[in-house]
Amino acid sequence: MQPLTGKSIILGVTGGIAAYKAAALTSKLTQLGAQVHVILTENAQQFVQPLTFQALSHLPVHVDTFGEPNPGAIAHIDLADRADLVVIAPATANLLGKMAHGIADDMLTTTLLATKAPILIAPAMNVNMYDHPAVKANMRRLAEMGCRFVEPGEGLLACGWIGKGRMAEPEEIAEAVVHFFQEGRHPAAGEQRPPAAEAGLAGGGSTGDLRGLKVLVTAGPTRERIDPVRYISNHSSGKMGYAIAEAARDRGGEVVLISGPVALPRPDGVTFVAVESAQEMYDAVMAHLPESDVIVKAAAVSDYRPVNVHAHKLKKQADRVTLELEKAPDILQAVGERKQPGQFVVGFAAETENLDGYATGKLKRKNADLIVGNNVLAEGAGMGTDTNLVTFFTADGQALEQPLMSKRQVADKLFDLVLQQLAVRRERR
Ligand code: PMT
Repeated sequence: MQPLTGKSIILGVTGGIAAYKAAALTSKLTQLGAQVHVILTENAQQFVQPLTFQALSHLPVHVDTFGEPNPGAIAHIDLADRADLVVIAPATANLLGKMAHGIADDMLTTTLLATKAPILIAPAMNVNMYDHPAVKANMRRLAEMGCRFVEPGEGLLACGWIGKGRMAEPEEIAEAVVHFFQEGRHPAAGEQRPPAAEAGLAGGGSTGDLRGLKVLVTAGPTRERIDPVRYISNHSSGKMGYAIAEAARDRGGEVVLISGPVALPRPDGVTFVAVESAQEMYDAVMAHLPESDVIVKAAAVSDYRPVNVHAHKLKKQADRVTLELEKAPDILQAVGERKQPGQFVVGFAAETENLDGYATGKLKRKNADLIVGNNVLAEGAGMGTDTNLVTFFTADGQALEQPLMSKRQVADKLFDLVLQQLAVRRERR
């Protein structure tokens, strides 16, 4: 079975030169098993023809709110109701502005207002338009409403400028769509849809309950160099930390994501800091710590690093070699030591045995307010998986065991608990 079999996807195409790439995206999503219902705006038709999309999707293409082909249904409501996901690619500055302000004056924008399906946006425009404060504000507003973004790339733009604004490649957008459906259980059209919070869907609607809070998240592994071609690292994919950053962003938080080297796309709408080693992660965390309200340390940081980093590639000589290691900085420990009264610190404990004992030990030793314990040997849990099996250990002695959930659902449960704990803290004052 293809990864998108049974999924009903609306692909909104707006009027930018990147509209030609939407044809390749239609083909890819169709090949992956999705039913792709294309809506072209009037401006998009200046660049591409409906017939191209009809031939690729094998479905009628919609261009006009009033061109009702089926007397038994109102097309934009019917499409909106049946969609599992809406993708807008390319999304022009004009479309972002209309969406952010609830304007519905054509087939695409009326469908966008009518749908309860999650929305994934791939913007494309001139670099100066992309950097314009009005466009940035519209994107922030849409992110707060729960829309997700596939960021544009940088390079030579059709207008001749060099910079950010080139629509993500169709492969990247198709990958984001597959990833979206793999993240949690997203039912096919016709099945009952769970409430957004339960599904952990960004697009299901944002609660905005983290608005006003600055959230610092670390994610991914660190790499400790041995020589220019070798390093010590671990299998962390960054999925857990990125899900936390995205959940915080979608709930209205101001997010700084400090990430070790991972293969995930950078989430839009967060301040992103790329680091490699434990030392670099330590420096970045310390730089952002003073202004942070909630600190979540999901990264899998190396405990040890080589004492000597060789300037040249080590040559194969002796049958055995000994690598001398020293302790890397313990970032969570340092955060716990510097914690200010208003700050809330969440650590993770990746264990293979005695989860309760080690997790509660870390909670006390590192002066954290909450530890998310995961048994990384359990099926569906730990590194690289899309799901996790965690227990939340709180400073007031609770051990809250959770069922197997998508990492995004874990992230949302985590913030529910953080907010609850902060409310209790406020009441006690
Ligand atoms: O990235 P994924 O593939 O999605 O996998 C997610 C995960 C399994 C990596 C994540 O859920 C997780 O458990 N992260 C913490 C992994 C870890 O390093 O655990 P630990 O028990 O070794 O460390 C305890 C805590 O101290 C962690 O919050 C860690 O970030 C922190 N730490 C550890 C060592 C160090 N030198 N500095 C630290 O800050």
